[in-house]
Order: sequence, then C-alpha cells, then structure tokens
Amino acid sequence: MEIKKAVIPVAGLGTRFLPATKSMPKEMLPIIDKPVIHHVVEEAIESGIDDIIFITGRSKRSIEDYFDDAPELEMHLKEKNKDNLLKIVQDISSMVDIHYIRQKEPRGLGDAILTAEKHINDEPFAVLLGDDIIVNKTPCTKQLINNFKKYGRSTIAVEEVPMEKTGSYGIIQGKPMDESLYLLEDIVEKPEPENAPSNIGAIGRYVFTPEILDCIKKTTTGIGGEIQLTDGIRLLKEEQQIYAYKFTGERYDTGDKVEYVKAIIDFALANEDMKGQIKDHLKGFCI
Ligand code: UTP
Repeated sequence: MEIKKAVIPVAGLGTRFLPATKSMPKEMLPIIDKPVIHHVVEEAIESGIDDIIFITGRSKRSIEDYFDDAPELEMHLKEKNKDNLLKIVQDISSMVDIHYIRQKEPRGLGDAILTAEKHINDEPFAVLLGDDIIVNKTPCTKQLINNFKKYGRSTIAVEEVPMEKTGSYGIIQGKPMDESLYLLEDIVEKPEPENAPSNIGAIGRYVFTPEILDCIKKTTTGIGGEIQLTDGIRLLKEEQQIYAYKFTGERYDTGDKVEYVKAIIDFALANEDMKGQIKDHLKGFCI
C-alpha cells in the first residue's frame, strides 16, 4: 500500500525556546527566510505525501495562516509588480492538501498522533516532527517509505547520538540486518547513559502501520506524565516486526538553540547570494 498521508505534530509548548515561543510556535522560527515547518512540509511532499494532518494547539494559529491564501499581500505584490515574491507566496498555499486537528492539551507525542486517528482511516502513514529539519537528496521520509515498500513494516529513523545525550532520545536495541537496517528488539525512552541499550537514537521521522494507534491507546501515562510514542512502539513490536533505519542526511533539531543556530549558518553558507559575506564575517571568529 502506498503511503500518502503524513501526521506532523506541532502542538508542543517549545519551552526550550522561551520567551520567543510564548506567542509564536517554534515551528515558525525562520531559517533565514523560510520557517522550519516549510522545510518539513517540503520533505513530506518530496517523499510522495499528498495529504498532511497537522496536530496543532494553542498559539499555533500562524502555522495555519502561513499555509493559507494571503489575498491582501498577494494584491499588494501584484500592484508593485513583484512577480517573483508573488509566486513564492502563492506556491506556499497550493503546496499540498493540509488538515488541522487540535490536540486539546500537549499530553505527549503518542497522544498527538492518536488525535489523527479518524483521518488516518486504517492506512499506513508517516510522522514527521515539526521541528526537525533533515537535508538530503533523497528525503529521510522517502528513505523510510522505501524500506516500508520492501518489508511492509513500520520503520523508524535512527542515528548514532553522543553517549552523554541518550537522555534526550528514545534509544533502541536492535539486531543488525545490514549496514543501515536493524530489526527493533527494544526501545527505551530517554535513558541515562548507564542504562542505555546503545547510542542509537530515534529522531523525528517514522512510518507506521495503522496498528500503532491501538498500541498507543493501550499505553498508560509514561515519563513526564505524557502519553509516549515510545511506549506504543514497544507494544507494537510484540505484534509485528519493526525496523530501525539509519538514514542518510544532515539533521538539525531546531527546537534546540545550538542546533537552530547551526542550521542558519549552514543554510547561509549553502546560499550562493549570502555565502561570501557570511564566510567573511565568520573568519573574524576563527581561533
Ligand atoms: P518536543 O518534546 O521536541 O517538543 O516534541 P516540545 O515539548 O514543544 O519542546 P520543549 O522540550 O518544550 O522545548 C517533538 C514534537 O512533538 C510535538 C512538538 O510540537 C514537536 O514538534 N508535540 C509534543 C505535540 O504535538 N504534542 C505534544 O503533546 C508534545
């Protein structure tokens, strides 16, 4: 079965980015001139997704506005003959079919995904976290979909993380199948390094069979009083095989301040119009 639907949860509070996120979603933080969420939606589209479900919450209105028509702005750009900008603005609102569902309270990633149950309608689907940008010619989600096509099983994207950072990830234990694929044996939410089964962490991209939803429903509140996706994955692996895929690409967790700054620098250096001036500026800091 083709994977055409993607859930993009954006209902988190983004406390690591306060005070900016007091009134603005962290997913709308710009990487120069394009918000983080635009990059995520582009990845979904380039992976073959044509139906996106955003899980939103309070203070996330600007995400809906961003992907909607902007008649006054379009009129203004037309009058001023700013055709390039007009096209950019119009293209955004016609990118893809987007639906919005509210998560009443940010009760965790598992709960956010469950909110989309009716729309998913018993089909396999992708999940892309709204604050992770992954740069690669073959998009990360596409890599997972390719693995799903091969095995017909849920596949989660993983990468090696520094041992001292295991406490920020769902950490897997897996049986290596080839150089980039593991059969999932276990996954532990945010373990301290001494309890971590490996240093291979799940990042913000997944492809699931629809059975994950029933598994999330069966979980009870986990770490931090939240309904954890990790607990749902643990239950699913008792019923079906799950794969962990070491994706190819450069990932930026833009919900983290250091990673956000790194993303801006790298995108500026990859931009022909900006790179000269940015390089000159950065030279001043070389020690
Ligand atoms: P994070 O844990 O990174 O987001 O969740 P957060 O809670 O907003 O961040 P901090 O730690 O307070 O800074 C990963 C993704 O899951 C979404 C977030 O919006 C983010 O895209 N999420 C998280 C939800 O949609 N609902 C939730 O209940 C929790």
